[in-house]
Amino acid sequence: RSVAHVATGEAKAGEQGILHAAAARGWPVVTHPTDVLATVDVPNPSRIVHAAVGTPSVAEAAALVDGGDLLVPKRTLSGSRPSMATVAVARRPVRGRLALVSTGPGDDRLLPDLARSTLASAEVVVGLDQYVDRVRGFLRPGTEILPSRIGDEIARAETAIVAAREGRSVALLSGGDVGIYAMGSPALERAGEDIDVVVVPGVTAAAAAAALLGSPLGHDHCAISLSDLLTPWQVIRRRIKAAAEGDFVVSFYNPRSRGRHWQLDEARALLSEHRKPETPVGVVTDAYRPGQRVRTTTLGDLDPSVVDMLTIVLVGNSQTRMIGGRMCTPRGYM
Ligand SMILES: C[S@@+](CC[C@H](N)C(=O)[O-])C[C@H]1O[C@@H](n2cnc3c(N)ncnc32)[C@H](O)[C@@H]1O
Repeated sequence: RSVAHVATGEAKAGEQGILHAAAARGWPVVTHPTDVLATVDVPNPSRIVHAAVGTPSVAEAAALVDGGDLLVPKRTLSGSRPSMATVAVARRPVRGRLALVSTGPGDDRLLPDLARSTLASAEVVVGLDQYVDRVRGFLRPGTEILPSRIGDEIARAETAIVAAREGRSVALLSGGDVGIYAMGSPALERAGEDIDVVVVPGVTAAAAAAALLGSPLGHDHCAISLSDLLTPWQVIRRRIKAAAEGDFVVSFYNPRSRGRHWQLDEARALLSEHRKPETPVGVVTDAYRPGQRVRTTTLGDLDPSVVDMLTIVLVGNSQTRMIGGRMCTPRGYM
């Protein structure tokens, strides 16, 4: 459909000719107050119209009130005096589109069709090199790639939004799911109503790791990031304690890095206040990527030295068991 709506002044809100013509074609009718129309800059203002209705233009002003280009200047029904209808046509400004695209854990087979078609229609792609490389084969020739430095998430979000505000179709990439510890929030915190936004969901690390381990997330569970770069440790600690008391299965994202080596130990100690040492734990590194490692251990035996930033740690609850070598949290059926 190429017609967005029919626009006129509020005084014409009940005008049957307009309402019938629009309804017959399925076009919505939008009305604007006279004082708003009077402020719109138009090419063909009329003193006569101003004297009659309080604004120098109705048709052109209503067409241009939201911005855009005037395609057809006002024209009246020829031969009728006074004219029975005046019409102008404007093309609305092109709205940019920001697609927040989840690229999954790393295997193309876990990149959803919606992500593929969104990438194929993007004019601009913003993301870390590693994610851009992963989706390069899905981009159309000529797609502009805006490089971005690791760690600079705010700058990356702003780069994508600026490109979308120019009226372009932009894809902003994240690994796993774009809304989970990723670019979704920094982008949406900064995006206004002036651009369209779509979010393409994907397979997050917890779901990918859970699939490799068995069914550890089969009952109530939560995710906690152990990175205290953006969240004070006291807040993280409180959440771990709450998860421990609530008997949630916990997926620990960002569990350990060279600079953050003690947090996982403390998290384990906090959970151990409420869970037995034999509670099953899954440790998955590089899920669905080359070099994938899947280990199962227990809360008592968990060795933090095998955990790094490419790893996710899933700690079972009081009901989680190893069955046939697979980690399973029962749903509670008897
Ligand atoms: C900043 S978070 C990004 C999470 C991502 N948006 C998602 O939904 O999976 C990075 C953390 O996610 C986890 N992670 C992401 N991809 C992973 C994978 N393929 N295998 C294991 N852990 C992964 C690791 O804990 C890593 O430190």
